[in-house]
Amino acid sequence: MREKLLQIKDETLANLEKTTTLRDLDELRVAIFGKKGELTQILRGMGALSAEERPKMGEIANSIRQELETALEARKTTLAGAEMAAAMESEFIDVTLPGTRPILGTKHPMTMIIEELCNIFTGMGYEIATGPDIETDYHNFQALNIPAHHPARDEQDTFYVEGGHVLRTQTSPVQIRKMEEGQLPIAIVAPGKVFRSDDIDATHSPVFHQMEGLVVDRGIHMGHLKGALTVFAQTLFGEDVKTRFRPHHFAFTEPSAEMDISCFGCGGDAAKMPTCRLCKGEGWIELLGCGMVHPNVLKNCGINPDEYSGFAFGMGLERIAMQRYNIDDMRLLFDNDIRFLKQF
Ligand code: DAH
Repeated sequence: MREKLLQIKDETLANLEKTTTLRDLDELRVAIFGKKGELTQILRGMGALSAEERPKMGEIANSIRQELETALEARKTTLAGAEMAAAMESEFIDVTLPGTRPILGTKHPMTMIIEELCNIFTGMGYEIATGPDIETDYHNFQALNIPAHHPARDEQDTFYVEGGHVLRTQTSPVQIRKMEEGQLPIAIVAPGKVFRSDDIDATHSPVFHQMEGLVVDRGIHMGHLKGALTVFAQTLFGEDVKTRFRPHHFAFTEPSAEMDISCFGCGGDAAKMPTCRLCKGEGWIELLGCGMVHPNVLKNCGINPDEYSGFAFGMGLERIAMQRYNIDDMRLLFDNDIRFLKQF
């Protein structure tokens, strides 16, 4: 038994040297001191010894156990230190290194154009108004003097959704919502998305943006409309820009007009005009629809047309952004290609 004990001691001390991790060390400890460990088993066998031998063997066994325990403990300290040092090395963080900068986006050209137009109008005393993208048929059509079977509906290929609602085909319903609030006078612009069942090409998209304008007060007349929209066009495109108003038809205005601006590409110059890419030889560029708010529309919103009058206008924003930023394909505005958007 004595030899066996000495053998265990020598082997254990040798194995101890070979351990490289705390885990190795623990396995070794279990193999010796665990319930089924080598030393434990020997100590258990002591009962079989003679009364004479037992104390001697007990003494040897105890001293070996103590010696091994001390050696294990020492090894543990060494390995723990080494593991800590390795962790410190591998998990080292240099707090003085510069951080990774978050990628800063830029404003989308549509956002920029909306902000620019809003600034022009708020500068003239208008407020910004909004309305829902999903509208009632009433707000999008009926209240705007477009009843159920009116041909004006055909011009706007509409997405109808459940419950008789529509994805608004124009921002004009915001006019109705504003007038329904019952606070007069009104001077608002309302930018936002509109939806039409159009196929996508370089100048069309089923989702696009419009900006609506509405002014209602006592004594508002066509002169106010022409003045406000001319100042707007000159602020946006330059003081030299001229405006012209062509008679047109919209169900919700009477009289109605389309406003053109003199082409800022060729300036209406007879020599440059024929080859001008912007106005295609016209000298004029169509910018928006407008008119005096139809008495029926005022009445629909509880406003007395004998006491109040107003003007309204609406314009598509993609075309303005495309002209402003020299973009030749509307799809670029919706592709979300970062390489394109980064340029703005
Ligand atoms: N809603 C019209 C459209 O989508 C644009 C428009 C024309 C709005 C005349 C107006 C207006 O407010 O007075 O084509």
